[in-house]
Amino acid sequence: MQFPTTRTRRLRLSPAIRRVVGETDLTPRRFIQPVFVVENPAAAGPLDAMPGQRRWTVDELVEPCRRAADAGVGGVLLFGIPNRKDAMASAAYAADGVVQRAVAIIKRELPDLLLITDVCLCAYMDHGHCGVLRDGNVDNDASLELLARTAVSHARAGADIAAPSDMMDGRVAAIRAALDRDGFTHTAILSYAVKYASAFYGPFREAAESAPQSGDRKGYQMDPANAREAVKLARMAEQEGADMLMVKPALPYLDVIRRVRDATTLPLAAYHVSGEYAMIEAAAANGWIDRDRVIHESLTAIRRAGADIIITYYATEAAERLIS
Ligand code: PBG
Repeated sequence: MQFPTTRTRRLRLSPAIRRVVGETDLTPRRFIQPVFVVENPAAAGPLDAMPGQRRWTVDELVEPCRRAADAGVGGVLLFGIPNRKDAMASAAYAADGVVQRAVAIIKRELPDLLLITDVCLCAYMDHGHCGVLRDGNVDNDASLELLARTAVSHARAGADIAAPSDMMDGRVAAIRAALDRDGFTHTAILSYAVKYASAFYGPFREAAESAPQSGDRKGYQMDPANAREAVKLARMAEQEGADMLMVKPALPYLDVIRRVRDATTLPLAAYHVSGEYAMIEAAAANGWIDRDRVIHESLTAIRRAGADIIITYYATEAAERLIS
């Protein structure tokens, strides 16, 4: 393999040849579209830090879901913003909660669309942490019961997949047991197994009103310095019964995506999070980058690193561009 016999540029000569030798595909089915549903209609509308994204009312929500389905995306991931927050996150597992109502409507209107729900307590707790607070600390074991109840209530409403994002130890096992006990043996679990304590969630917390009122999430989310630990958490989630795994955020953690991909056989998702989206939008708004090309390159990089599935705010838009 030596120049001049070997010339690597031969395979880059034309769009036709580049197309046939490209190693990584982007297809709509690989994308999951996150959507925000808000209980209070007055709080619906566009999000400052996430231009192009909005909070939908329960009644409006079918619209973005239908658009995603028409574009051929793999599914939608639902986040709820409730009216009422308390110390037990009771609105998270209320039968008539905002997510439960939204799930029922989407399932009725779009029965073939894969529906994933984020299972967490932060947006439902008056203190904004992902579990029950005791003496200023998030009590792991006390939180499991509430998370399990939340997942079961989503399944009862019609969700296909429960996606716990809280980072409590043992949540996958607790949720699996609770689902099975109530007869939801067919409801799958997508574990946010490898979720970092990341500054890239900033815009999301504004959208979901889920910022912790005191302290931070470093006591339960992972240290960005750690990659070996990611493999450990992925294996634990698999052993507890997770059907699919997730690494989050995506672009700053491509090495972690690769390691987890190589360490398990489960389908692997990567979450291209709100701050990653906001950076692209801000730079593009200033005319500093070619927005569409940066989006395509970012999603390709995440796939190349080993993600089977990409959860991204660009899901519908990117899918529409791919099919048009
Ligand atoms: C809830 C949750 C968060 C995100 C998804 N689920 C925020 C957090 O952990 O603080 C972040 C998603 C994004 O930034 O796009 N725990």
